[in-house]
Amino acid sequence: MLNIAILSRGAGLYSTQSLFRASRMRGHYVRVIDHKRCNIVIEKDLPHIIYEGERLVGVDAVIPRIGASITDYGAAVIRQFELMGVYTATRSEALIIARDKLKCLQKLSAFGISVPKTFIAGSVEDVPALIDNLSGVPVVIKLLESTHGVGVILAHSRSTAISIVEAFSKFNKPVIIQEYIEEAGGADVRAFVVGKKVVAAIKRQAESGEFRSNLHRGATSTIELLTAKETEIVLMSAKLMGLEIAGVDLLRSNKGPLVMEVNASPGLEGIENTTGVDIAGDIIEYLDKRIRNFNKNKKW
Ligand SMILES: Nc1ncnc2c1ncn2[C@@H]1O[C@H](COP(=O)(O)OP(=O)(O)O)[C@@H](O)[C@H]1O
Ligand SMILES: [Mg+2]
Repeated sequence: MLNIAILSRGAGLYSTQSLFRASRMRGHYVRVIDHKRCNIVIEKDLPHIIYEGERLVGVDAVIPRIGASITDYGAAVIRQFELMGVYTATRSEALIIARDKLKCLQKLSAFGISVPKTFIAGSVEDVPALIDNLSGVPVVIKLLESTHGVGVILAHSRSTAISIVEAFSKFNKPVIIQEYIEEAGGADVRAFVVGKKVVAAIKRQAESGEFRSNLHRGATSTIELLTAKETEIVLMSAKLMGLEIAGVDLLRSNKGPLVMEVNASPGLEGIENTTGVDIAGDIIEYLDKRIRNFNKNKKW
């Protein structure tokens, strides 16, 4: 039996509930811990966390479900667990890199993964030339911190693209500019990785008149089979990001599959309901095996 802590701000959220139930069903002791209420105590030789007035002890595994709005504090809490010698299903460094679209794409592309051609402009004056370098419009402009498709814009003309970048830069919001993969037809593929396996995959299709295929933007999803090449790319991407649990999003382009992003805290609701796969169960069973190895290799 494991003592599992799910780090989540919402005990009632679908993914949290699903992981909670899957842990219980397998006979583990499980708690939902609000990372925002975890107080990090820094003290010589005794890193620990105070939660609801008590020192947290005896945790075997942490499953972080950290929302985008509190990545930094969430990562600090995960780091503290790491320093306490507790296994965490998402490492703090991996969370930080995956949350930053630019860092993520820099790393993947540098290690041979195909991604949509992307750039970040150091200054607005250079944007027109960069758009030309992407073989013109339309281009996709993304806020580095976008989620659920909010802050992802399709600019059909050069002048609109420049105005958008100017507007964001005025508010000091960094953006990336990306080639538009038109042939993807408003669809992308989400593959869910647990350990060294893709346990489920769905195709998400945007509503008509919309290019963003986020389920939060009204997209519909269907079960999808990946090609052998796609599977290889997905697993390699998760591995490069240092993630044992990941949602990898692909765009199917004329040049082959392109990795658009790697999600460190992928939601379970859409993909479990669409595929019927008990992903939470797969995660808990994977952790159970993983922790036995982790503890065996522990030096203290
Ligand atoms: N370069 C692109 N070409 C075509 N469609 C894109 C491109 N980038 C994003 N999209 C569409 O927009 C959606 C949201 O973009 P994404 O980068 O995943 O942002 P978010 O993190 O906010 O979900 C994607 O799921 C995809 O359907
Ligand atoms: Mg996305």
